Amino acid sequence: MGKNPTITVDADYVIAPITPLTYGGFTEHMGRCIYGGIYDPGNSLSDANGFRTDVIEALKELKTPVVRYPGGNFVATYHWLDGVGPKEHRPKRPELAWQGVESNQFGTDEFMQWCELVGAEPYLCLNFGTGTLDEALGWLEYCNSSADTYYANLRRKNGRENPYNVKYWALGNEVWGPWQVLQSTPSAYSHQAYQWAKALKLQDPSIKLILCGKDGLSSWDHQVLKECVKVDAHGLNGDLTRSLIDMHSIHLYTASQDYVANIVAPRAAERAIQITSGLIDLARIENGVSPSVPKQKICFDEWNVWDPVRAPGELGAEEKYTLSDALAVAVWLNVFIRQAAHIGMATIAQSVNVISPLMTSPTGIHKQMTWWPLKLFSEHMRGDSLAVHVCAPAYEGSTTPAWIRAATDTPWLDVSAARDDDGFTNLAVVNVSPDEDFQTVMNVREGYMRSFTLTAEGMGSVAKEDGIDPIKHDTWYAKGQIEYLFPRHSLTILKF
Ligand code: AHR
Repeated sequence: MGKNPTITVDADYVIAPITPLTYGGFTEHMGRCIYGGIYDPGNSLSDANGFRTDVIEALKELKTPVVRYPGGNFVATYHWLDGVGPKEHRPKRPELAWQGVESNQFGTDEFMQWCELVGAEPYLCLNFGTGTLDEALGWLEYCNSSADTYYANLRRKNGRENPYNVKYWALGNEVWGPWQVLQSTPSAYSHQAYQWAKALKLQDPSIKLILCGKDGLSSWDHQVLKECVKVDAHGLNGDLTRSLIDMHSIHLYTASQDYVANIVAPRAAERAIQITSGLIDLARIENGVSPSVPKQKICFDEWNVWDPVRAPGELGAEEKYTLSDALAVAVWLNVFIRQAAHIGMATIAQSVNVISPLMTSPTGIHKQMTWWPLKLFSEHMRGDSLAVHVCAPAYEGSTTPAWIRAATDTPWLDVSAARDDDGFTNLAVVNVSPDEDFQTVMNVREGYMRSFTLTAEGMGSVAKEDGIDPIKHDTWYAKGQIEYLFPRHSLTILKF
């Protein structure tokens, strides 16, 4: 395959700080995510509230900073009032997105308590299907108000004195999709989103609002950004330096039957992020938004490897992940690190049982292959994103779908770099090749180097049920120019 690849990290060139919110999660009322996943009353693995403690421990291990809730598509017919108060009085409702019945035994207060146990911030998505602005304002008041008003008092009556102070609120989910109970158009959605944003921020100016985008590459994204990214004509509480919209949400799932194409597919997200960032710039220029107004970032609030056709489970959502998928997740995370300048938040879809690295059964929890790259990145790839130059032969095979190939070049080594708060440089390297180890030459500072390597026998390997950590560790003394061999189909974190 030609000459050896080289990796050069420019430690003086900081791209941007990596937001800790890059490592967020998502729990939707879908399949076994909530019921039988995070909430399983009566199970010996659950606490007195019915929360599965093994799930909480696993998410704490990942240092999950934020969790999106309650959907996803589910939210389009969700009425939050159904899910608060005494459980025996909560109504059962037909659930239209996933065609089930919602018992409402898990609702807002349960989610907030659960987030506190995980140590994560809640991120709530508003119902832009059958919901009303009144309901949304009521939910905001219930969660965030300390006043002597109806919904704040309802929260107190339900046992919670202090407000939850929910900072992140999404203005709907995938409202552009034909599968939605109520599908919208860019102009109808923009009008609604902007009016709701104004009312929500009048009630609580401290919140951050997230606009509903598509995949970042669409005319939907272009139009809604153009309509909504502007400075409010009235000036929010007289403040003309703020915009009502703080982030723009985009979603993308990747997958391919071909193991290698599957791993490189997430590089399409890199292009989506760059284009979205350009569309945000364009909207700001066209609407005369002053550069002193902080630029809206991207909230990548659904991302993962998902093929609903191949995945088992009633909803095609209980993915059984292979090493190829784990390496794809590592490429996804490399993209977020490289594009740190544009990422305000990223939440993997989803956190438990549904398209998830964590699978529960009544008797335990299984950490799938894709759990391990999340853990490695969350532990090591923090701080500042650093510029890194990779010179490696390119993968020339087929990729499906074709737009992935059009999106980007695909070197055999996919790399990102970060300098953490302790001054360590951390390099994340995915060797995409199914059959070739790559010897590289790098310059490093004098000192101890550590490596963490995730690999397995073949690309189709799945994680063993024994829960034993499959990551190999090594430590050695190094100085100046070193040679390092990245094994075929592996993820390596080098720390120096
Ligand atoms: O994450 C699963 C589903 O995928 C979500 O409910 C929806 O937003 C997306 O289409």
